[in-house]
Amino acid sequence: MAKKKLNVGMIGYGFMGRAHSNGFRRVGNFFDLEYEPVLKAACARDSEKIKTFADTWGYESTETDWRKLIERKDIDCIDIACPNNLHHDIAIAAAEAGKMILCEKPLAMNGKEGEAMCKAVEKAGTINSVWYNYRRVPAVSLAKKLIDEGRLGKIFHYRAVFLQDWTISEDLPQGGQGLWRLDAAAAGSGVTGDLLAHCIDTAIWLNGSFADVTAMTETFIKERTHTETGKKQAVKIDDACAFLAHFKNGSLATFESTRYARGHKALYTFEINGEHASIQWDLHDLHRLNWFDHRDESIVRGWRSIHVTDGDMPYMDKWWVPGLQIGYEHTFVHQVADFLENAAKGQSTAPTFRDALETQYVCDAVLDSAKSGKWENVAAVR
Ligand SMILES: NC(=O)c1ccc[n+]([C@@H]2O[C@H](COP(=O)([O-])OP(=O)(O)OC[C@H]3O[C@@H](n4cnc5c(N)ncnc54)[C@H](O)[C@@H]3O)[C@@H](O)[C@H]2O)c1
Repeated sequence: MAKKKLNVGMIGYGFMGRAHSNGFRRVGNFFDLEYEPVLKAACARDSEKIKTFADTWGYESTETDWRKLIERKDIDCIDIACPNNLHHDIAIAAAEAGKMILCEKPLAMNGKEGEAMCKAVEKAGTINSVWYNYRRVPAVSLAKKLIDEGRLGKIFHYRAVFLQDWTISEDLPQGGQGLWRLDAAAAGSGVTGDLLAHCIDTAIWLNGSFADVTAMTETFIKERTHTETGKKQAVKIDDACAFLAHFKNGSLATFESTRYARGHKALYTFEINGEHASIQWDLHDLHRLNWFDHRDESIVRGWRSIHVTDGDMPYMDKWWVPGLQIGYEHTFVHQVADFLENAAKGQSTAPTFRDALETQYVCDAVLDSAKSGKWENVAAVR
């Protein structure tokens, strides 16, 4: 049967522009879907660079103004893969134009912006999703299945870290490709919105809603040269953040993130301790899920490392043969696949804008608590 075409307009050609484009290009080779994505147009301000990107990835055309891209009648779906300060305006304009929307995380600069974005997509009835891609690591999806089946029993503890070390040098500027993350005007926050947002989204998915948080943040380097002005400017993002939380299910949590953990490039790990069993996951070994079950006979009881490659494990029937693992880029292929499958049924794909608003509210409460020095309640989403 002929496939329905879904014309994609990509905004941004950086890290995520590449990861998403790879997802769109490869999905049809591995997933049998009603929709076939067509890389219709790529957009960024620099006409030369976006042309090179379009040629590399096979986009049919380019734009240098995202408003023009959204106005185009031949675009069905807008993919927002640019810095955080642009998500709000682009998403609202895309919703008003009736486009489907895939938006990078964090959804917005703060909860207030996120609320407006949710209202816009819900008013327009447009299909949406946010790229919290770690949900679609097969081992993380397996963790979700094990928890939902009740195999851990009552959950007592949730522990997550996301550690990097790339901003330790005082000479690193703020602003520009990749480095917009150090500029609060473009990023909204530092590690809280960039890295902890991932940990929070996974935690909500696996363990439910947060009740309250208490946090501390630090900005180790107080001034950096701004790429655009050439001047030293105050650094207003959080370089590091650690917080404690209560979940609504009564479990206790600790979260930590920093870009100053020498030796760690992208160490995202979580551990969940339940009444019967515990699980651990590590992004550096993303195809494994560590599992400990107290109900095992004591002489063989111990941590086991599940190699998540068999065909009965989440997403793995679409790839190779048992024993052969997949990697980071496949999480984006999976999200595209789920997005297209749900879109064919007229449905949005989790995490939707409204799901991602909950993460935004946790980030807001964390940053508020770091300022107030007090426990802060997390606003309820629905
Ligand atoms: N899901 C994930 O794991 C993950 C990983 C990295 C980044 N992100 C998110 O993806 C988004 C982009 O991050 P990145 O790492 O790709 O950044 P990047 O700096 O590599 O790329 C940003 C892109 O946005 C473009 N851009 C900037 N201003 C623009 C404008 N006015 N109009 C059109 N294009 C514009 C730039 O040209 C560049 O191509 C951010 O929201 C970030 O938080 C998510």
